[in-house]
Amino acid sequence: MRTDQIVESGPTGGMVTRIVRADVEDAADDVIHEVAAILRGGGLVAIPTETVYGLCAAAQSHRAVKAVFAAKGRPSHNPLIVHVSGLEMAGSIGELGPLGHALAARFWPGPLTLVARRRPHARVADEVTGGGTTVAIRLPASPLMRQIIDAAGPLVAPSANRSGRVSATSAAAVMDELGGRVPLILDGGPSPIGVESTVVDVTDAPRLLRPGAISPECVAAVVGPLAARGSVVEGPLRSPGLLSSHYAPRAALRLDVPAQDVRPDEGWLALGDAASAAGSARTVRLSMGCDLAEAARGLYAGLRMLDGTGVSVIAVSPIPAEGIGIAIRDRLLRAAAPRPVSASSTCGADTAAEPAAHEEATGP
Ligand code: TXA
Ligand code: MG
Repeated sequence: MRTDQIVESGPTGGMVTRIVRADVEDAADDVIHEVAAILRGGGLVAIPTETVYGLCAAAQSHRAVKAVFAAKGRPSHNPLIVHVSGLEMAGSIGELGPLGHALAARFWPGPLTLVARRRPHARVADEVTGGGTTVAIRLPASPLMRQIIDAAGPLVAPSANRSGRVSATSAAAVMDELGGRVPLILDGGPSPIGVESTVVDVTDAPRLLRPGAISPECVAAVVGPLAARGSVVEGPLRSPGLLSSHYAPRAALRLDVPAQDVRPDEGWLALGDAASAAGSARTVRLSMGCDLAEAARGLYAGLRMLDGTGVSVIAVSPIPAEGIGIAIRDRLLRAAAPRPVSASSTCGADTAAEPAAHEEATGP
């Protein structure tokens, strides 16, 4: 192992969690070898991708996949994405069909996940798909992730956070979420996109299951009009009460709040440069110039930072529902949804799976 590693133990006092720096574009061979050996042996490693950090395990190992669900506190019926390093590997796991192939040709490698019919003899543990007949597949852009998959085989990689909580876009955030639950975190710096992949179901008419960096318009430009699941994709905010809670900080969220309506005791997640009553100590500016890609990159870190100030409510600027702004609004709506009664007390605690109401809304 290289000398630039940092050794820390996680906050739960369980297993020791090491953080090892890795060059995402050109990782050292010994890092790749060590990580692949852990994964092939059924262990877990948190690895950066271009979207968010993933909690990775060998997709064909029942034991490893079960360990992922346990480490996250994730309900076992919420299926995982299988990450592959090439189109051939993808085709051995799911039938992409003409729609899937067209989208793969345009957007892979990149922040797009395709839900396809699972091949009967796919080398994927049943726990990955919750025993279902479909499988979610992604070919990530990150060279580091693809090198590791080349060496270790297909990997499941849910976002590296406790179930229901804010996703991690830095090694330090993974440590906060999963320290003591995972032996190794690769530190590849801040995630360049900052929100999870766009998920499109191609088993039938193309259907958007989760907005992401690749906008619905860009997907529709390749496969035609999309059926949307849920109604968070466009238009005015609906009642968050219709959504299940996810991506949630400890503080409550108040959405679409103009600067002049922010209260002095609130935190403020701001788009633009206007001043508010929150003051600078409790303000995180996602983008001074209202650049939505920049806002997406800072979204989860901003929520974590404001949580760290101890505020009980975070007010959020209006975010335009265009491009990656659609994904930002989707995550904020879910983060603002009513929490299960036990959520604030169980998040980060040593508990078993959280209530079903706390799962991600894109699951089958
Ligand atoms: O960007 C990403 O996709 C990140 C990085 C680490 O690659 N991963 C990620 O995984 O966001 P996760 O597990 O946090 O989210 C996977 C989403 C969930 O909403 C899950 O319900 C959905 O994909 N999903 C997985 N398999 C599915 C299936 N067979 N049918 C429908 N939805 C599925
Ligand atoms: Mg997630």
